Amino acid sequence: MAELRLPAPPRRHLLSIADLERGDVERVLDTAQSLAASLEREVKKLPTLRGRTVVNLFYESSTRTLASFELAAKRLSADTMSLRSAGSSVDKGESLKDTALTLSAYEPDVIVVRHPSIGAPQLVARLTDAHVVNAGDGKHQHPTQALLDLYTMREALGRLEGLQVAVVGDVLHSRVARSLVQALGLVGAHSLLVGPPTLVPRGIDALGCEVSHDIAAIADADVVYVLRMQHERMGEAFVPSLREYTALYGIGPARVRDGQVVMHPGPMNRGVEIDPRVADSAAALVTDQVRSGLVVRMAVLYDVLTVAPVEARVHAEVA
Ligand code: NCD
Repeated sequence: MAELRLPAPPRRHLLSIADLERGDVERVLDTAQSLAASLEREVKKLPTLRGRTVVNLFYESSTRTLASFELAAKRLSADTMSLRSAGSSVDKGESLKDTALTLSAYEPDVIVVRHPSIGAPQLVARLTDAHVVNAGDGKHQHPTQALLDLYTMREALGRLEGLQVAVVGDVLHSRVARSLVQALGLVGAHSLLVGPPTLVPRGIDALGCEVSHDIAAIADADVVYVLRMQHERMGEAFVPSLREYTALYGIGPARVRDGQVVMHPGPMNRGVEIDPRVADSAAALVTDQVRSGLVVRMAVLYDVLTVAPVEARVHAEVA
């Protein structure tokens, strides 16, 4: 006789900024802030996720994102395991589906996924009982990067509402830009995308931002957010030469006015999209971003595991 199975309770994932409401963003940032305060203590480990298991499944190279997810899980006392595509059965051709099903057999509570294909984290979320966090899928989304960037801006500038953020460079290949523009919109900040027409996709203003091809447009911004030129995703020449790109859109000292802060998600191509004199200046928040990455990812792991998904909250309100 067929076994009677009750529907699984809804699970909370973080797949895209589009799934969040303003309150969700603010709650994660506030949690990150209290976690940062508790990390000031000499003993940095909190018992919060003791007995939970977090698996990092990374099909693309990563330094900051993987390191911070690993450390975030450890600081919350979760057991953690990281699988990179190189050196696992993935490079023997095991499909994402089979890998996800294999890992599910260990019953992880959270799977953090980075993959070159758009939608890979959604697929893993359908196949497993774990909560899934998107750590970057192709050109699509990188929600935890957007959250840590918002956290960094709020810490440095004291507010998010009304901030003007100019995002400069290779928007076309950037999941960071897409997530960031959506997240800024949720909290009442404004974004302006600046870059050559070949690197700013037509219609991107539908995300709720302005677009300019003139670098002078960054003058009014509170934050200049520099994107990496993504050589690995550029199949053809999108710019006549890197030297010309740097001359037209590179962020050097002459393009940063007093009072502006400069951000970059890393890894930086020094001398291409950002001049080392800017990257190493007091205006640059690049190291703050890396530091924020840890507390914000701790907050995200805690959030997906403890806060009910929107559907469940809606049901609770109706009932
Ligand atoms: C970004 C990424 O991988 O999407 N880096 C990161 O997560 N720190 C940005 C980039 O690679 O340009």
